[in-house]
Order: sequence, then structure tokens, then C-alpha cells
Amino acid sequence: MSAPTGRSSGVARAAALLAGAERVLVLTGAGMSAESGVPTFRGAGGLWKSFRAEDLATPAAFARDPRLVWEWYGWRRSVVAECEPNAAHIALAGWCASRPGFAIVTQNVDDLHERGADAAGVHEDDADEPLHLHGSIFRARCTACGIEDEHRDEVDASSLASLPRCGSCGGLLRPAVVWFGESLDPDTLEEAMSLAAEADACLVIGTSGVVQPAASLAGVTRDAGGVVIELNPEVTPLSSIADVALRGSAAEILPALLRAAEGGR
Ligand code: OAD
Repeated sequence: MSAPTGRSSGVARAAALLAGAERVLVLTGAGMSAESGVPTFRGAGGLWKSFRAEDLATPAAFARDPRLVWEWYGWRRSVVAECEPNAAHIALAGWCASRPGFAIVTQNVDDLHERGADAAGVHEDDADEPLHLHGSIFRARCTACGIEDEHRDEVDASSLASLPRCGSCGGLLRPAVVWFGESLDPDTLEEAMSLAAEADACLVIGTSGVVQPAASLAGVTRDAGGVVIELNPEVTPLSSIADVALRGSAAEILPALLRAAEGGR
């Protein structure tokens, strides 16, 4: 791991690595959206400090009290809907556009990468959608027939009878997110693993790096001969495999990093 003498030398080094990369996997976590106002999970003020995951984000919790779980996801939707993409989402979307070898894989269930692309003026044909490893709070899946679709309607969680229902079979819908104890969608995970193995560089932004298998993607790139760049204000378990670790916030550092990488191509 490098020992940058200062932030600017770290940025220059990271920019040079990115400029030389044909394929880049950008792995993002809750810190990417923190400066938009979306709460993270584990830091100060993180969701898992004030809420118990076992009451809200497990299949057992939904079986026990679907009303409570929908109420919480309805609240999270309203928080995200009030937030705007920050400078990091916008810069990243612009940078990845029209570069087929660049992909965003996110653990975030918000839609700020997509809205960042809109804000950057990226045409939908010019960029792949980000892969959502942990699903999306704006999608729902039927617990009976399994059909999944976009779902942005306001949720009335005042009673069991008012919860969202499947338009096809009438079954109870659930948020299409990955809960504790559940597996990731196998196709999504396989695609993310291939992108990681083929990447010349994995740029890891704003994740504590403690949730698997997402956190292992950086190691997959590293083991396949690629470099790892971390952007996070804190040291994480992924810092030890990072070739360059940039300490700071995504919205502050990422736009400058990507501008420098652009200049070096
Ligand atoms: P965490 O809340 O665990 O970690 C957020 C990370 O972002 C920490 O390492 C912070 O230091 C960093 N951070 C905070 N502010 C930042 C900023 N402005 N710029 C850059 N980094 C910043 O969130 P995740 O690692 O994303 O899973 O959590 C992984 C998964 O755990 C989530 O997807 C969720 C959760 O349980 C599911 O819902 C399945």
C-alpha cells in the first residue's frame, strides 16, 4: 500500500492509475450518498445505530410484521426522494458515460447514481445502468408469484389490508431489497464478479467493506492483477489491499480525481 505524502500526491497517483485503465469497476457504498443527506448504516447517525436490523430488514421481520417493515421502507423512500445527487454522483456518471469498460456496482438501494446521470446530462444509451447488488427501495417483488417491478407509489402502511399488492396475482408485495440472511440475485452477483475479475482498476468509494460478498469484489480485481483505489474518510478492512487510499469525502475528492484522470488519458 502506498504512503501518500499528502492528499494531492495521492490524488495524482490514483488519477494516473485510472488514466491507464481500460476497464474500471467502481464499487460504491452508503458513503457515496452521505453528502446528499442519505443516512449511512454504521457510522455516527447510521441507521443501524437507531434501528434494529432484525426488526426491519430480515425475512423473519417481514413475516412477523409486514406493516412495520413497509412503514420503515416507506420512510426511507421519502428520505431519498428529498435528496439530490451530489457532486460525486454527477462527476462519476459523466466519467463513465460512453466508456463501455467502466461500470458502477453499488450496494446502495437509493436511485442517486441514476439521477446523477440525469443531472450530468448523460443519455441513457451512453451508459450502462449501475448494478444494484442489494436491490432498490423503488422496486417491489410479489411474495406469491415473484414478479418484480418498479414501485414508487406512496405506501399506506396504516393496516395490513392497505399494504401494496401485486397487480397480477394480488399477493403481498415486499421491497425488492436484499435482507440479512438472504442471498444476492445470482445473475447480478455473477455479472459483478466478472466485471471485478476483468477490471484493471477497482475504485472503492464510501463503503465500510464489512458486508460480503460485495466487499470481496475489490479483492477479486486485486487477485486478477488489477489495482485497488479506496476513497473513504476512514480506514476500512479494504484499506490493506488498496494501492492508493484517499482519505476524504466523495463529493469533495471524486470530481477532482476524475478531472485529473481525464487529463491524464
Ligand atoms: P456503511 O454505513 O457500513 O459504511 C459507510 C462508509 O462510508 C464508511 O466506511 C464511512 O467511513 C464512509 N463515508 C461516510 N461519509 C462519507 C463520505 N462523505 N464520502 C465517502 N465515504 C464516506 O455502509 P455500506 O458499507 O454501504 O446492506 O454498508 C454495506 C451494506 O450494509 C448496505 O448496503 C446495507 C447495510 O446493511 C443491505 O441493506 C443489504
